[in-house]
Amino acid sequence: MAAASPPAVLQVSGIEKRFGGVVALNGASLSIAAGKVTALVGDNGAGKSSLVRVISGVFSPDSGTIHVGGKPVAIPNPRAARALGIHTVFQDLALVGCLDVVQNVFLGDEVHARFGGLRMPWLNRGHMEQATREALDRLHVSTLQDLLQPVEVLSGGQRQTIAIARAVRQDARLLILDEPTAALGVKQSRQVFEAVARIRASGTAVLLISHNLREVFAASDYIAVMRLGRVSRIFETATANEEEVVSAIVGANRRSESEMPGSGTARSVEGG
Ligand SMILES: Nc1ncnc2c1ncn2[C@@H]1O[C@H](COP(=O)(O)OP(=O)(O)OP(=O)(O)O)[C@@H](O)[C@H]1O
Ligand SMILES: [Mg+2]
Repeated sequence: MAAASPPAVLQVSGIEKRFGGVVALNGASLSIAAGKVTALVGDNGAGKSSLVRVISGVFSPDSGTIHVGGKPVAIPNPRAARALGIHTVFQDLALVGCLDVVQNVFLGDEVHARFGGLRMPWLNRGHMEQATREALDRLHVSTLQDLLQPVEVLSGGQRQTIAIARAVRQDARLLILDEPTAALGVKQSRQVFEAVARIRASGTAVLLISHNLREVFAASDYIAVMRLGRVSRIFETATANEEEVVSAIVGANRRSESEMPGSGTARSVEGG
């Protein structure tokens, strides 16, 4: 029997999204637990990025509901997502290469100096540097000594951790990482996953999109499989094996998908 589930930070239910004749999301439902890493896997075109875009306020769904902390919410734009504590690191990272580490961590959210309660036109650089250092310390990032370097000279792994630091600084309730290590080598990937482990330990929920099942098994608590625009199965990573996850991804072995939701470690919502 399934153990008592940790509280959900975010629940999406029955999300539909069409692009003309293409059904990107066809009733996708997912619950993301606090302090856990949920991996979102599935074949190309299964709807993973579309679901993430709905949760991050990039796409508005045609139908379906979203609850954050148990309350129904609308997420009409990325700013609204961030205000709800949902931070997404997209694959292209949205960093500005010619700006330094501190400027990127505070991009679009710069802290101005104040004088006698008035906002000054110049920035409070000291405060921003200190907060950047604190965010990187929380991730145990020690390879970034010089915060004044433009990020374009940094490695892919370092850039990825800066994008994560930006979310950590803003006290994310849910951090979404879309293929964070797709372009990284072994050592840099490890650096990113160490950061993910710290974030998880701090109580933040992580939704991790990845095609790399070895990484998924090493880093996640739950594995949600998307197929044909829906979350078709959810596995508890500790008791799942790679073969059954692959079967769920490609849609094989449907007979074993007939278990009722919640009846065991693997749940199915794909109709018989
Ligand atoms: N902006 C868009 N306009 C039209 N169709 C789209 C758009 N975004 C996604 N789609 C379609 O929706 C479906 C789901 O795409 P999505 O990008 O969500 O898949 P994915 O699971 O992220 O795949 P991948 O693993 O390849 O990144 C695809 O058929 C895709 O072509
Ligand atoms: Mg995608």
